[in-house]
Amino acid sequence: MIIRKETKEDYKSIYEVNKKAFNQNDESELIQRIRTSKYFIAELSLVAEENGKIIGHILFSKIKIIGEKEYESLSLAPMSVLPKFQKQGIGEKLVKKGLKKAKNLGFDSVIVIGHKDYYPRFGFEKASKWNIKCSFEVPDDAFMAFELKVGALENKSGTVQFPKEFGIK
Ligand SMILES: CC(C)(COP(=O)(O)OP(=O)(O)OC[C@H]1O[C@@H](n2cnc3c(N)ncnc32)[C@H](O)[C@@H]1OP(=O)(O)O)[C@@H](O)C(=O)NCCC(=O)NCCS
Repeated sequence: MIIRKETKEDYKSIYEVNKKAFNQNDESELIQRIRTSKYFIAELSLVAEENGKIIGHILFSKIKIIGEKEYESLSLAPMSVLPKFQKQGIGEKLVKKGLKKAKNLGFDSVIVIGHKDYYPRFGFEKASKWNIKCSFEVPDDAFMAFELKVGALENKSGTVQFPKEFGIK
């Protein structure tokens, strides 16, 4: 199993993997909207490939925390592993590789709306710790943040704005 950057040839498989993992099209469609927006970072759309088949995917894209100033951050969304391949550590490899790449690209933090029992294992903590809020209603423990550089979120309290192109809120 390898983790690598997506290519154009993967678009269809990524759509299918997300559709199967989430049991709906919403996340697959979201990926397509992000891909054609200025918030897309090609290096941070990663696939897990086994024997030439795409079995997992993760996407990080640019977002802003609007506080006293505007601070750049990353949104981790969505991530997916084909049901048949879940609970084998593929998700973990995608997250870890993604965080490492994001750091190498110079980003200093990541925001995720996700399962409260999953992301803390990678170091994510409730965003409310830094007084970072979401622009729409979300459970406190599902709205998490991670510092790629120690102290990166200190004094960056504010509200995360997901670009309207994402069509989230
Ligand atoms: C979430 C997901 C990407 C994890 O991928 P994975 O390859 O199974 O992850 P890993 O093997 O690294 O880790 C498995 C762990 O994740 C946990 N997990 C998976 N889905 C979870 C959920 N909905 N809530 C809490 N924990 C979850 C498993 O219980 C398991 O925990 P354990 O290690 O304590 O047994 C995958 O389950 C998936 O595609 N789910 C459907 C889509 C989804 O919900 N995406 C995430 C949106 S935030």
